[in-house]
Amino acid sequence: MKIIVKKDYEQVSQAALEIMLDIIKNKPNAALGLATGSTPIRLYELMQEDHLKNHTSYKNIESYNLDEYYGLSDDNPQSYYYFMWHHLFNKLDIDKKNIHVPSGEGNIEDVTKHYNELLQQHPRDIQLLGLGSNGHIGFNEPGTSFQSTTHYIALKQSTIEDNAKLFFNGDISAVPTHAITMGIQEIMDAKKVLLLACGERKAKAVKGLIEGEVTEELPASILQKHQDAIIIVDEAAASLLS
Ligand code: F6R
Repeated sequence: MKIIVKKDYEQVSQAALEIMLDIIKNKPNAALGLATGSTPIRLYELMQEDHLKNHTSYKNIESYNLDEYYGLSDDNPQSYYYFMWHHLFNKLDIDKKNIHVPSGEGNIEDVTKHYNELLQQHPRDIQLLGLGSNGHIGFNEPGTSFQSTTHYIALKQSTIEDNAKLFFNGDISAVPTHAITMGIQEIMDAKKVLLLACGERKAKAVKGLIEGEVTEELPASILQKHQDAIIIVDEAAASLLS
């Protein structure tokens, strides 16, 4: 694992941009594993700015998102599909048919089977990750098997509370209680993994991820076993590291 500590959120996002662009420019048909949440928002803005200014092409890029709330349709403003469209894809020249987010609707078995097959057929060149304050990656909550593939999961109360910030008026009662998430095995299948974490609220999980034992109780700790994992954190998130 390569650990990079940057001063603040802006610098973390700039460093992540360089890594993303290196892949996109060198492999115009790269498959990107993408994340939602507050952490990648600035990175996505920078990708949009770069595209508008430098015309980096996404024409043949494919994207595979980590997760989706269960019970929300693509056009629901709180869905992760909608999030991705508004924070990233709407300003890029990406082909809509190359955008993949697990469906938050329909028969759970069908939805998970379809996404598993898709991921098997399309290995990711990079998987971008945020980090839950409880150590989750994707929506793989503590206790999820390292061998897991795409599955339906009940969100922990702490995740529901953390995620309320992205809901209208921070309304916790509006946050879905379940999600469909890419599994840990599928995250580990990506050639490169790039995890970003910022703020003091992430410091404990960052310490566990980097210095703790590899345990399913802290899903992100599995990244210690990935052959090409880059962890970029700001000083606040790094504050508990020894
Ligand atoms: C999002 C995701 C989650 C978030 C994590 C951190 O697709 O899979 O694991 O990355 O909950 O969220 P933020 O960035 O809002 O702190």
